[in-house]
Amino acid sequence: MKYTKFYLIFLFIVGLLISACSDIQDEVAPSETVSVHGIGVLVKSSPSFHGRQLVNNSMDDCKRCHASDYSGGTAKVSCGSNSCHPAIFVHTDQIMNPNSDQFHGNFIKEDNWNLSQCTPCHGDSYNGGIVSPTCNECHTNDGGPEACNTCHGDFADPTRTSPPRALNNAVETTDPGVGAHIVHLSGITIAQNVQCIECHIPPSYFGSNGHIDDSPRAEVTFGSFSSRGIGEPLYNTTNYKCNNTYCHGSFAFSAANSLYSFAYTAERIEGNNYNPVWNKVDGTEGACGTCHGLPPTGHMEAELKSCATCHIGVVNNRGEIIDKTKHINGVIDVFED
Ligand code: HEC
Ligand code: HEC
Ligand code: HEC
Ligand code: HEC
Ligand code: HEC
Ligand code: HEC
Ligand code: HEC
Repeated sequence: MKYTKFYLIFLFIVGLLISACSDIQDEVAPSETVSVHGIGVLVKSSPSFHGRQLVNNSMDDCKRCHASDYSGGTAKVSCGSNSCHPAIFVHTDQIMNPNSDQFHGNFIKEDNWNLSQCTPCHGDSYNGGIVSPTCNECHTNDGGPEACNTCHGDFADPTRTSPPRALNNAVETTDPGVGAHIVHLSGITIAQNVQCIECHIPPSYFGSNGHIDDSPRAEVTFGSFSSRGIGEPLYNTTNYKCNNTYCHGSFAFSAANSLYSFAYTAERIEGNNYNPVWNKVDGTEGACGTCHGLPPTGHMEAELKSCATCHIGVVNNRGEIIDKTKHINGVIDVFED
């Protein structure tokens, strides 16, 4: 009997040394003394589990001894030491003020978008814990705070997941986080709109590999259509230019492979391999004649109004693209409607 008690106390002390507050355990033999909070303060299944002390109470009660910013206070126990709740510091009176550095969204941003710091208390599905309120009352879209439009896109419209708004909340196209997204995704007049996958590897859920990584910037990884030209397409993260994309004229068609070599004045008809600036959305970067000459290099002479004679169904005799599915589609469209 005596030995058992000894053994229990020994076990408890070892437990304290090893884990202190680090791991909340579901089943552990509780000590009889030690904490002002009583037995089982760190045991989730115990009635005296510290989380449960908040039922019918508020965190203001804990602040009495653990300090108003949870940093320790007279209790000399910080709630936010690394192994416990580093995210507790988000709970200031500015937590709901989007203009404050201490807004909960900005707190998460500063912590490399680490939502897993919030789930231990607010629930794995963000639908609330023992006392922590649900996030989903405000974050009403599928996935709660993990919905794709929470951090980028339109917070009010779950179908708009890409910038604008950018991660820094910018909405101007001159901000590289915003750039020419809208134009590419829904505003192209001379070809079909582009999907995310032509420029990124879109994550299937928030926690997908490659989504949130060590670099704060988005990864631009070109897809198979952008890559079908000559040279490997690359996005320059310093000057925001897209280089070597098929779409912007990284193409060369060869006379040797052509049924119509008479149209060639050189071995190849080539595009301009234009390098558009992503955040210059003033009409210049996609203007007629930027991606390829009118006509292109290596092409027999022709005027804009006459392209329609041979490239039937693609353009009209005013030089306007009349069928979006035939232009910038990867196919030579000539002599056929
Ligand atoms: C009357 C002062 C007081 C209040 C109020 C108080 N605590 Fe404590 N708390 C302490 C002291 C002192 C310690 C450190 C010594 C100890 O564990 O007895 C402590 C330690 C803790 C620990 C660490 C226990 C361990 O064994 O490592 C947790 C967790 C904790 N408190 C949670 C809370 C929570 C949650 C609240 C609010 C519901 C709260 N405390 C309110 C005084 C207080
Ligand atoms: C009372 C309502 C409310 C609750 C509760 C709430 N949020 Fe929010 N949250 C908002 C609003 C509103 C915004 C957007 C503010 C804006 O951008 O104007 C937001 C933004 C965010 C953002 C995006 C930040 C950014 O800058 O892009 C994240 C991430 C987030 N919340 C996570 C959470 C998590 C996690 C919880 C629960 C632990 C939570 N929120 C609880 C209202 C709430
Ligand atoms: C240690 C547990 C714990 C952690 C970790 C935690 N919260 Fe909370 N949170 C609470 C509790 C408890 C409340 C209720 C507030 C009270 O009782 O004063 C709360 C309230 C909130 C509210 C509601 C504020 C309001 O005024 O409506 C938001 C928003 C919130 N937390 C966001 C977060 C975010 C974001 C994270 C992660 C970065 C997070 N919390 C991490 C326990 C936690
Ligand atoms: C035509 C190419 C293109 C398409 C299509 C595209 N993006 Fe982007 N995206 C970019 C570029 C370029 C950047 C800027 C990278 C940088 O400089 O940091 C970017 C940045 C982003 C960012 C980071 C924004 C920030 O604030 O830093 C997000 C998020 C994003 N894109 C999501 C999407 C989603 C979601 C889609 C599809 C709905 C999409 N993008 C479609 C090219 C594209
Ligand atoms: C909690 C905030 C948050 C949520 C929720 C979120 N994203 Fe992101 N997303 C980011 C951040 C931050 C980046 C850029 C940083 C990086 O790449 O590390 C990013 C980048 C992207 C990019 C650019 C490619 C890349 O991986 O860099 C795409 C596409 C994207 N997100 C799509 C989505 C989709 C689809 C969802 C929903 C399944 C989603 N995001 C949910 C924060 C978020
Ligand atoms: C964003 C780059 C870009 C711009 C701007 C552009 N083109 Fe093109 N164009 C291409 C590419 C790439 C091809 C190669 C064939 C293909 O994939 O359709 C092409 C091919 C053509 C062809 C050959 C027919 C065909 O589609 O095979 C004609 C004619 C043409 N463009 C006319 C025009 C005219 C007229 C304008 C201005 C209204 C214009 N293009 C603007 C990229 C562009
Ligand atoms: C007399 C007929 C004719 C006229 C006029 C003409 N083209 Fe072509 N074009 C051709 C032929 C033939 C080819 C080669 C197709 C092949 O190799 O199969 C060609 C090839 C091209 C290509 C590269 C392959 C492709 O189809 O994308 C482009 C781009 C192009 N033309 C653009 C133009 C533009 C722009 C104009 C007007 C300024 C124009 N062409 C006027 C006959 C013409």
